[in-house]
Amino acid sequence: MVLEAIRYKEGQLQILNQLKLPHQVEYDNVRSAEDGWHAIKEMRTRGAPAIAIVAALSLAVELQTITTSDNVEEVLAFILEKLDYLVTSRPTAVNLSDAARKLKRIVENAAKHDGSDGAAVSKAYCDAAAQMLTDDVADNEGIGKHGAEWIMKHSEGSKVSVLTHCNTGSLATAGYGTALGVIRSLHAQSSLQRAFCTETRPYNQGSRLTAFELVHDKIPATLITDSMASALLRLKGPTEKIAAIVVGADRVAANGDTANKIGTYQLAITAKHHGIKFLVAAPRTTIDLQTPSGDSIVIEERPGKEVTMIKGPRFDGVDVDVNSTEVVSIAASGIDVWNPAFDVTPASLIDGIVTEIGVVEKGEDGKFDLTLAMEAQN
Ligand code: MRU
Repeated sequence: MVLEAIRYKEGQLQILNQLKLPHQVEYDNVRSAEDGWHAIKEMRTRGAPAIAIVAALSLAVELQTITTSDNVEEVLAFILEKLDYLVTSRPTAVNLSDAARKLKRIVENAAKHDGSDGAAVSKAYCDAAAQMLTDDVADNEGIGKHGAEWIMKHSEGSKVSVLTHCNTGSLATAGYGTALGVIRSLHAQSSLQRAFCTETRPYNQGSRLTAFELVHDKIPATLITDSMASALLRLKGPTEKIAAIVVGADRVAANGDTANKIGTYQLAITAKHHGIKFLVAAPRTTIDLQTPSGDSIVIEERPGKEVTMIKGPRFDGVDVDVNSTEVVSIAASGIDVWNPAFDVTPASLIDGIVTEIGVVEKGEDGKFDLTLAMEAQN
């Protein structure tokens, strides 16, 4: 089975319902922008690149009914309005607003062509949205290659162990993954001793999704709770010695400050303390030069019940029913909860930002210059 978060062929979009993983593999049909908005908001699909692509394709599906007799201006206005709506589904990852901005430009240009009609504008949109799916896999393979090379260059020996956080794999992207793509590349070139992944509280993207992908691909891997990371970094055994922590990103600000899944910041602090490399892996669509630093990144806050409740397994004190999908409370009823979905890791704690075209390192002034990476062609 190929792990696919997104299945698309003209006019048809299905997403793997990630709320049901790792227990059930079930695809949901997405027939409109509204369906796409709900799938993203409800976390049935998640991960910065996947969110952008599902949003773009959900509207492409809805546009299938547009014909040459549809008015250009009306089709254009419809697409622009739907894109603005889709962007409201989740605020932190920049890939979605970046995709919307690019798609808007494409349809605005298509509408200006002499003799353009509604169908031509719709086709320009659908082609560009489908291209995003293809481009993302190619970008991730580039990230995997460059990240793996960089880690090996900065490590001793022929095999390394790495630690990752959250899910950044095939399930969070169009395929292959960003940080998990780096791990896949290390494994493919027989340079991976072991991957460690955090469970990633409170939503457990690590234990539910990353662990699922690692088991699926038969990559040697060990799951830890988030609170075990510093203890792991102290270990020096041949398997446990961590060469690098590699994480994904939801938004990289112009100065390199990086918003990613809550818990990333504390991993970067402990990496610095232990002298371990800390790498951010993301396509250039995640770099946001309009955001000067992490201070201006809006951090999504999610419902408290994601912290206080958990879905199965049911434990009656004697037996565990691992197939139970029951929702159980794991906190004292009535407690207040703070549940930011992301945090910002300052650039000072990051050693390199891996993109599809290479690894950006700090200059002699100790700062990242991401403008060159953004200007360079693939
Ligand atoms: O809340 P989520 O599950 O959408 O958060 C996902 C992450 O934080 C990922 O690490 C990030 O989007 C990078 S995905 C390649």
